[in-house]
Parts: sequence; C-alpha cells; structure tokens
Amino acid sequence: MATTGNDIAAAKQFLVKGDLVAIPTETVYGLAGNALSEKSVLSIFETKNRPSFDPLIVHTDSAEKLSDFVFDFEGPAKELAAAFWPGPLTLLLPKRDVIPDLVTSGLDHVAVRIPDHALTLELLCQLEFPLAAPSANPFGYISPTKASHVEAQLGEKIPYILDGGECKVGIESTIVGFVDGVPTIYRLGGLSVEDIENVVGKVNVLPHSSSNPQAPGMLKSHYAPRKPFFLKSREELENAGDDIAVMVFQKPLNKFRHHQKVLSAAGDVKEAAHNLFTFLRELDLLPVSEIWTEYVPAKGLGLAINDRLRRAAAL
Ligand code: TXA
Ligand code: MG
Repeated sequence: MATTGNDIAAAKQFLVKGDLVAIPTETVYGLAGNALSEKSVLSIFETKNRPSFDPLIVHTDSAEKLSDFVFDFEGPAKELAAAFWPGPLTLLLPKRDVIPDLVTSGLDHVAVRIPDHALTLELLCQLEFPLAAPSANPFGYISPTKASHVEAQLGEKIPYILDGGECKVGIESTIVGFVDGVPTIYRLGGLSVEDIENVVGKVNVLPHSSSNPQAPGMLKSHYAPRKPFFLKSREELENAGDDIAVMVFQKPLNKFRHHQKVLSAAGDVKEAAHNLFTFLRELDLLPVSEIWTEYVPAKGLGLAINDRLRRAAAL
C-alpha cells in the first residue's frame, strides 16, 4: 500500500533502490522510475499494464544534464526549451546509448522534458539519474491530476506517492519533434500551438490516428472513462435522459440536472483543461449509464482538450 506524503528523501530512497514513485508535475502525475535502469523501466510498463511499444518520457531538471542523454540539442529545440522549460513541453531528440531501448520502444529518438513543479525539480536535482515517467494511470484510462487519483488506481502497486497538490495545467505535455528540421507536434497538450509558433514559426501538427506508428500514445481509444462516453451537439445534450451525466464547456444546460459539470463558467480554455480529467473521473464514479459532452472552442488549449475528448470517445 502506498504512503502519500511530501518527503523528498523518502521518494529518493525508493527510486535509488529501483522502486517506482508517483511524482507531481504541472501537467499530470507521473509514475516514475530510474530511466537508466532496465529493471525499473520494465516495472513501469508492468505496473501500468502498458504495451511495450508505447515509449516513455524522460524527465530531468536541467538542460545541461540533457546532453548526457541526447544528441543535437540545438536550433529550434534549444529555442523552445529556453522559452518553455520548466514547463508542459516534451522534445523528441536523438538518444544516446545510455538510455535503454526499452524506454523508447526501440525508436532512435527519446522524449525528454523538464517539468515545472518545485517538489519534483528538487527530487530530480538530488538524483544521479533522470526519471522515466508516463502518466500514473492504468493504460488507456484518464490521467491523474491529484495524488488521490493515483492512490485509487495504483496505490496497491507502488510504495510512495509524492503529493504535490493539484496539477496546475491538468493536461499532458505537448510533444514536439523535428521532421527534416521542421518542428512537428506529435501530441497536442498543455502548451498551445500558438505559443510554440510564436517562438519557432509555423509548425506541423500530425493527425491523430491509431494507424500512426510514430507516437503510439496517439492510439485512438485513450484517456477514456470506463463508462460509455459520447460527444454530442448542444441540442442532444439538452434532451439527455436523467441517467446520463453531462459535461459542458461554459453554459449550463437549461434543464436542471443533478449530474452536470461546467468546465469553465468564465469560458476560459485553460480553466477547462485544469478541470477536465478531475471532472471525467468524478462523472465516471456516478450511478449513471453514460457520459455525454460537447466540444470546447478550438483555440489555445481547446485544441488539446478536443483531442482528448475525441480520443476518450474513440472517434
Ligand atoms: O505531461 C506529460 O507528458 C506526462 C507527465 C508525467 O510528464 N507524461 C505523459 O506520459 O503523458 P505518457 O507516457 O502518458 O505519454 C507519453 C507519450 C506517449 O503517447 C508516447 O507515445 C509518446 O509520449 N512518446 C514517448 N516517447 C516517444 C518517442 N520516442 N517518439 C514518439 N513518441 C513518443
Ligand atoms: Mg498517458
């Protein structure tokens, strides 16, 4: 059974031993292990029930340490890192041999990021190795944004949850790779396309499809609640039966409903991203038969939210 606390020394002790620890980041909680240890990395895949073809993100606390793990950290990659790290940005860079193939599922690039969370940055600073950490949820389920979410699903399987409070951003990092030198978004996330383009100019956004082998995390059915989950029009939502829970963006439905969540009454997509996974978890626990929702405005983090909604609905 996991202990939950904010003891960095305890977290460090488990990680040095090769055990796994859940860590807070600004995006979502991660299930962390020594990225340089095959044994720890294997244990991450097992604990999450994650297929071995879905590679992991490596977390570190300083851009200087990065050159131990990757090549070619220069040009637009370096500009993006300077602008947004620590923050919700993951870069795909050519890996050095010290990173086990297991981490990258055999790919020659490794995903790396510096997360923006004081506890985790301090932990990383004290460790002599980087941390491989996927989101701390069973494979395919909604990512955790509170320590209690991790506890509910992985509490039996790991010794320690480092509790850093609620995740500020609430949605996973934006993954950027470079195709013939052109910055390319592999996964929409907590850093908006606009913010990225302000630094490096026009970027490509890869279409999401389970047939895209380059980023297996783009598997269509992902980030999903257990209950049947559907994207609906406003009119359909207004007419939803009482055994259906609904989540709307800004404006509550006219009809009074017990089971309704409003992502952001102010109409702010950042607030909506922050609430998204917590609300989905809460709705998933209600005695209802289905969950219905609507798209949010396709601007800023709205693009990443709509991506998660589509994938939860397996569209
Ligand atoms: O915000 C985040 O990114 C969180 C926190 C914990 O840092 N982590 C996270 O990890 O969302 P995970 O494992 O749930 O998603 C990582 C995604 C996967 O979809 C994986 O396919 C993609 O990153 N990825 C990792 N390494 C890759 C690589 N070498 N090439 C392409 N995609 C990669
Ligand atoms: Mg994940």
